[in-house]
Amino acid sequence: MNQRLHRIAVFTSGGDAPGMNAALRAVVRTAAHHNITVFGIEHGYEGMIERHFRKIEIRDVGNIIQRGGTFLKTARCDRFRTPEGRRLAYDSLLTFDIEACIALGGDGTFTGAEAFYREHNFPIVGIPCTIDNDLYGTDFTIGFDTAVNTAVQAVDKIRDTAESHNRLFFIEVMGRNAGFLALHTAIASGAGNVLLPEEHASLDNLVKVLENSARRKKLFNLVIVAEGHPIGNASEIAELVKSRLDMFDVRVTVIGHLQRGGSPSGYDRVLASRLGNAAVEALLDGHKNVMVGMVNHQIKLTPLAYAIKNQKELNLELVRLAEMLAI
Ligand code: F6P
Repeated sequence: MNQRLHRIAVFTSGGDAPGMNAALRAVVRTAAHHNITVFGIEHGYEGMIERHFRKIEIRDVGNIIQRGGTFLKTARCDRFRTPEGRRLAYDSLLTFDIEACIALGGDGTFTGAEAFYREHNFPIVGIPCTIDNDLYGTDFTIGFDTAVNTAVQAVDKIRDTAESHNRLFFIEVMGRNAGFLALHTAIASGAGNVLLPEEHASLDNLVKVLENSARRKKLFNLVIVAEGHPIGNASEIAELVKSRLDMFDVRVTVIGHLQRGGSPSGYDRVLASRLGNAAVEALLDGHKNVMVGMVNHQIKLTPLAYAIKNQKELNLELVRLAEMLAI
C-alpha cells in the first residue's frame, strides 16, 4: 500500500447483476478499514454528470449482501459516450474532491471508464459485474453464477411440463452476444441441445439432431437458445423448425429479466467480497485503469483496454461435454 487516498467514489452502471450489493459492501468496508471516505454515485455515469453523490458509511451497507439489484441504482448513459459528457462528469468528481473511482459493471461501463481515464488521467478501477460473463481477465463475472442458477430452476420447471405433454421447448436465455449463460444452463439442466452464438451451428444441423432424437424415441426435448444466436431468437428458430419437422408439438419460453434479479448465490457473494476488497487495495497500490478479476482462484489485474477488447473464449471442453451428454 503505497498511496494515501482520502476520498473515493463508487458507482454501478449498465445492466444490474446479483452480487453488486455485496461488492459495494466490500468496497465501503475495505475503504473504512483504510480510513478512506466513500461517496456513492447514484444511477451510474448519469448520476456522475448530474452530481448525485452521497457519502456512504459502513452501516449504510449493512443488510444488503443478500439483496439482488443495486442499492445505488444503475443506468445506461448516452451522454457519457461523448467527450462533453465525460468532461461534465470529471468536473463533478473534482467538485466533490474525489481522488479515484471504482466502477461496477460490464463491457459498456468499462468502455466508458477507459475513455474517461485516457482523457482525464483519472484513477479508476473496474469490478466485473454482469450476468453475461463476457469479460476477458476473469474466469467469472459477479452475477453469472446466480443467473445460471435462476435459469436452471426455470428449465427444471419447464422440463416437468415438457415431459408431461411430450413437447419440444425452445428456451431463450440472456447473454447478449456471448454463450456462457446458455452453455452452463444447458449442462446444468441436462438440456437436449444448446445453440451458442460462438458455434455458428446451422439450422440443418439442428433439424438433423432433433430428427435423430425423435427416431431414438426421445419424446420430449429442451433446446437452450442464447439470445444473440445468428439464426434468430427462440421464437424465430421454433418457427423454422416447425416448418421443417411436423412430429413435434413446439413451445417457446423466454426467461428474460428473471435472470437479472434475485438473491446472489454464495459463490457470487464470495466473489463480490473478494473483488470489492481487491479494487480498493489496487487503488492503494497505485493501480489505475485496470479491472480486478479472479483467474484460477487468484486476484488478477487486467488493463481495462484488454478486458474490453479481448474476447473471452468459451471453454471448448464444456461445449463438447454438452453435446456428448445430450444423447
Ligand atoms: O448485459 C446484461 C443483459 O442482461 C444482457 O444479457 C441482455 O442482452 C441485456 O442486458 C438486456 O438489457 P436491458 O435490461 O437494457 O434490456
